[in-house]
Amino acid sequence: MKNFNLSVAFLLFLGLSGLQAQERIPQVEALLEKMTLEEKIGQLNLLTPGGGIATGSVVSEDVEAKIKAGNVGGIFGVSSPERVRQAQELAVKNSRLGIPLLIGSDVIHGYKTTFPIPLGLSSSWDMELIKETAKVAAKEATADGINWNFSPMVDISRDPRWGRVAEGAGEDAYLGSQVARAMVQGYQQDDLTKPHTMMATVKHLALYGAPEGGRDYNRVDMSRTKMFNEYLPPYKAAVDAGVGSVMTSFNDIDGVPATGNKWLLTDLLRERWGFDGFVVSDYTSVNEMIAHGMGDLQDVSAMALKAGLDMDMVGEGFLTTLKKSVEEGRVSEEEITTAARRILEAKHKLGLLDDPYKYSDTGRPEKDILTKENRELARHAATQSFVLLKDHNQVLPVSKKAKIALIGPLANDQSNMLGTWAPTGDFKLSVPVLEGFKNIAPNSRITYAKGANITNDTAFAKKVNVFGPKVEISDRSPDELLQEALKVARASDVVVAVVGEASEMSGEAASRTNIQIPESQKRLIRELVKTGKPVALVLMSGRPLDISEEMDMPVSILQTWHPGVEAGNAIADVVFGDVNPSGKLTMSWPRNVGQIPVYYGERTTGRPAPTEEFQKFKTNYLDVPNSPLLPFGHGLSYTNFQYSEIKANSETLRRGDSLVISTKVTNTGKIAGQEVVQLYIHDKVRSLTPPKKQLIAFEKINLKPGESKTVEFPVTVEDLKFYNSQLEYVAEPGEFEFFVGGTSDCEMQGSFTLVEE
Ligand code: NOJ
Repeated sequence: MKNFNLSVAFLLFLGLSGLQAQERIPQVEALLEKMTLEEKIGQLNLLTPGGGIATGSVVSEDVEAKIKAGNVGGIFGVSSPERVRQAQELAVKNSRLGIPLLIGSDVIHGYKTTFPIPLGLSSSWDMELIKETAKVAAKEATADGINWNFSPMVDISRDPRWGRVAEGAGEDAYLGSQVARAMVQGYQQDDLTKPHTMMATVKHLALYGAPEGGRDYNRVDMSRTKMFNEYLPPYKAAVDAGVGSVMTSFNDIDGVPATGNKWLLTDLLRERWGFDGFVVSDYTSVNEMIAHGMGDLQDVSAMALKAGLDMDMVGEGFLTTLKKSVEEGRVSEEEITTAARRILEAKHKLGLLDDPYKYSDTGRPEKDILTKENRELARHAATQSFVLLKDHNQVLPVSKKAKIALIGPLANDQSNMLGTWAPTGDFKLSVPVLEGFKNIAPNSRITYAKGANITNDTAFAKKVNVFGPKVEISDRSPDELLQEALKVARASDVVVAVVGEASEMSGEAASRTNIQIPESQKRLIRELVKTGKPVALVLMSGRPLDISEEMDMPVSILQTWHPGVEAGNAIADVVFGDVNPSGKLTMSWPRNVGQIPVYYGERTTGRPAPTEEFQKFKTNYLDVPNSPLLPFGHGLSYTNFQYSEIKANSETLRRGDSLVISTKVTNTGKIAGQEVVQLYIHDKVRSLTPPKKQLIAFEKINLKPGESKTVEFPVTVEDLKFYNSQLEYVAEPGEFEFFVGGTSDCEMQGSFTLVEE
């Protein structure tokens, strides 16, 4: 009994003091000793003086005075070594304890060298490449004074109506986890004190990608088993990779806003996952808990702190109410000390406590930003992100000798090439497709015509243009634009039409219920097809689109997302065949919005539809088949790959052992190409309804024409685990089927059995 009491007391001490398994840092403890309650609360305050893009209706005021008073722990929206030095000086030279600031930024897909949007990058299935882009982003951002990044965004989403699918890695927890890890490693590398690395933030914890109706900021409701198996793994992967901070999401979970959700921020993140960094809110998400119905500003601020939130972004609820809450006994000073300690520890990890000006080297921007190598990487990354959806009559690649009609509202556009959420990039540096075509095929005959507006709907255009003109509606009539384009098309050998979404038609607060190509452009495409000329569509979008009509047309379709600063060159590389496309979709594309959510890993039902044909009393629709228009993992090449000799080297797997599933892949075409070889399993009998298929491994290989390679995937019990109804991570014995191919829509090839010892 005595021992029991002692250990309870010890645990209480651990809980109250926030003592983690990690060691205390003397420099941080010494600072905390000296700090007043107000100064500790000041560390929990994150402000933006403006200058960047505000993603809420509030921008901070009197930032300078607040920094001097020691009321600010970090700022964002400020860059350049000079401005960052000034900001640090305000803190270091004027505040009582001279504690430097965290300097945050949204470096989502590159800093000044803008890479393809994240959904595009994920389509490369190339983790080394993704890591490299994050490394370059960190090098450029730190050269410009940034030490803390609000990326990676790892929210799984199966809903293309939600505009922020553009910022993530798609629908799959396994692939999403690999991407999360690669990005954290790229930003942070192995040492955060190095001047070329910055602290990463995994966001948005949690489930932000599953809002009801695909409407941004909407509520989320999901079972624990679905969370653990299908949505949480990428956040956990980032934590396991050592991510320095975590950002909470705007949505609620089990009815409690994530920003004030103790189960999420303490029980799961800290206790179950062992996270030892700090947690920051999203933009005013503490204050937004008032609208969620959680009380007044003092209530929600106390609730968030007690739940495990350490830093309050922009809303200043912590700054203005926490002291009062301490005085009233609603929060303890220890809870505030714990949060302040985590912020100071982050500053220590970055080496800021020793050298506040380490990211203020004025010589670096010139040397490190937008270098030739960085732009080359951006071009390469873009080519790797493109997905050849369909190649009717091999219209692609186009011969450099052909007479080309380059048509479409995005064919000679600069303002949409970077894609959404590239606030640090400069769209004026991006290469339009027309320019890229001329660069790559200088002797070819290319005639350009706009052909259509992105949309003719002025009210819609206004909503898309909040950050500047992305949709420009021509003074010329739609008919005039169309007739000009048709004339150009008729006089050409081949038509390349660059069509799709403006960059801000996806991204934050850009949900759509109609995810087709806008009607103005659909009309253009129909008319171009009627000319009888070979037509290739170069499609741009930040999300999967409903292109059912276009897939039925005799056209080729190359999906290029929003490709980044080297857009035009990269598109020309692939259209002219200098680079063979190899991207694969990381989100299923629906036949229509009514099919959403449609994703490859859906769990089994009791009335499965055995075929694509409608059958009464089976789970299917009267009007469309169950399968998506284009499945996860899909993507063609200018060459062909043949899979053979697919086998497992054993019929049984014992815990502690491994077996190998292998396949021979042969390039049967005439040019070299890359293929993403994918391995899926299906757990035939288990205590929770299993996914029909689950990706457990993949490898991207290069094959010369005629070449064959054998790809081997070792499988261990770890690959077969899932969270059961007690949320234990287990593999249950029994039969597992396996599927191998270049798409999730691949055939079952065999099975093996997991046996107990
Ligand atoms: C709101 C967004 O949800 C988040 O992703 C971003 O990091 C912050 N704004 C800061 O800009």
